[in-house]
Amino acid sequence: MSTMFTISCFGRTGTRSRNIVVFSYRQFSDSFYRSVTLDSESRERSRSVTAFYNQSAIDIAAAKPSVRLTPTTILYAGKSQDGSHLLRSAQYLHKELPVRIAHRIAGFRGLPFIVGCNPIINQVHEMYINAFQLLTEFPAVESLEDEENYSDLLRNLLDTHGDVVTLMAEGFSECRKHIKDENMIRLFLDRTLTSRLGIRMLCEHHLALRDEKPNYVGIINVNFSPRKLIEKKGEFVRAICDSKFGCAPEIRILGHVNATFPYIPPPLDYILVEVLKNAMRCTVENHLDSLDHLPPVTVTIASNKIDFIIRISDRGGGVPHSIVKKVWDYNFSTAGTIPDSRIDRGLLGDFVDPRDSGGATPTRMHGYGFGLPAARAYAEYLGGSLTMETMQGIGTEVYLRLRHIDGQHETFRI
Ligand SMILES: Nc1ncnc2c1ncn2[C@@H]1O[C@H](COP(=O)(O)OP(=O)(O)O)[C@@H](O)[C@H]1O
Ligand SMILES: [Mg+2]
Repeated sequence: MSTMFTISCFGRTGTRSRNIVVFSYRQFSDSFYRSVTLDSESRERSRSVTAFYNQSAIDIAAAKPSVRLTPTTILYAGKSQDGSHLLRSAQYLHKELPVRIAHRIAGFRGLPFIVGCNPIINQVHEMYINAFQLLTEFPAVESLEDEENYSDLLRNLLDTHGDVVTLMAEGFSECRKHIKDENMIRLFLDRTLTSRLGIRMLCEHHLALRDEKPNYVGIINVNFSPRKLIEKKGEFVRAICDSKFGCAPEIRILGHVNATFPYIPPPLDYILVEVLKNAMRCTVENHLDSLDHLPPVTVTIASNKIDFIIRISDRGGGVPHSIVKKVWDYNFSTAGTIPDSRIDRGLLGDFVDPRDSGGATPTRMHGYGFGLPAARAYAEYLGGSLTMETMQGIGTEVYLRLRHIDGQHETFRI
C-alpha cells in the first residue's frame, strides 16, 4: 500500500540540496503519488521547492490556537462498539496536528540565521514541513477505513521523527557557540521538545485506543505503579551503565512502593532514565577505587492526594559549585572529563540496545547535555517540577514532582 521515496529539498539559501525521506500513501495523495511514479525528477523538485517556500498554508495554520486536552477528558472520552470514538479521535488530530506543527515551523523560522542554516537543524525543520504537508494533504477522516489509513500515516510519522531530539542535540551542539542569548535557545528548545512530547502522546494515545491492553485506556495506565516503572527503567539504565563502565550501582526503592494510580508512563520513562543515568554515572566516577562496592542509588516514592514525588539520591560526590547553575543549560555536559582506564570502555561502551527509544539519547550514558534540561521541560509541561539539591563532597538528590491526573484537582493539558 505504502511506498517510500526520496525527494530533494533546498535549504534556506536555495543553493544547497539534500535528501530527505518522506512516506506517502496512494489513497490520500493521488496527485502526489502520480508525480512520483511518473519518476520525473524535475516535477519532484519543483513540487518540493514549492512546498518549502509556499508558506501561506503554514501561516494560516500557525495563526490558529492549539486545542489542548486534559488527561481526564481523554480518560473519560468513552469507547463505543462501532468505533466512533476512533473516528472522533482521528478527526480531532486531523484538525489539531497541522496547527501544532505549524507553530513549531514558525519557531524554526524565528531562529537566528546562523542556527537555521545548520544542516542538522535545517533537516529537522524540513522534517516538520514534510509532516505538515502530509497531514494537511490527508482528506477528511469520514469512515473507519479512512481512520485506518490515517493511523498508518501517524505510525510512519512517529517512526520517521523518532530521532528528532538526538538530531536537535547534535545540531545545537554544533552551532550554539555562535549564539549569546542562552534564553532564546532555552525557550526554543523547551517549546519544541514539549510540543513534540504532546504531539507524540496524542498520536500514541490514538494508536493505543485501537489495542485492547489490560489496565490501559489509550496511553493512560489506570493502575500505574511508579515502583514497577522505576524497577524496569532502573534495569535498563544499569545495563547501559554496565556496558559503558563495566559496573553499575544497585537501585534501592523506598517509600510508597505499593502506590498505584492512573498515569501516562511515556514522559516519565524519559525523565527517570535521564536522572538515573546521571546518578549512576556520577556514582561510578566518584568511586573509581571501590568499583566492587558502589553505594546504591536510592529512589523514594511518595504519593498523596494532590501529587506524587520521586526522589533519586546518589552518592556521586555532588555537583561542583562552579557548575551548579549550568547543569540546566542545554548542551552543558562534563561527560568525558574523567578519562580513566578503570572505567573507560571507549566508543563501543556508549551504546546498548537501540530499540528502547523514547528520549533524547536513551541508549547513551551521557554526552549531549540534554538530559536534565529536557527532563525539566517535560516535568513542567506535565504541570510538575524537577529540582536538584546537591551536597558537594557527598552526593545529589533530584526531586520529580508530578500532579495526579484523577480529575479531582486542576491538571495539565496535553
Ligand atoms: N547526580 C549528579 N551528580 C553530579 N553531577 C551531575 C548529576 N546529574 C547531572 N550532573 C552534571 O550535570 C551535567 C549535565 O547533565 P545532563 O543534562 O544529564 O547531560 P549529560 O548527562 O549528557 O552530561 C552532567 O554532565 C554532570 O556534570
Ligand atoms: Mg545525563
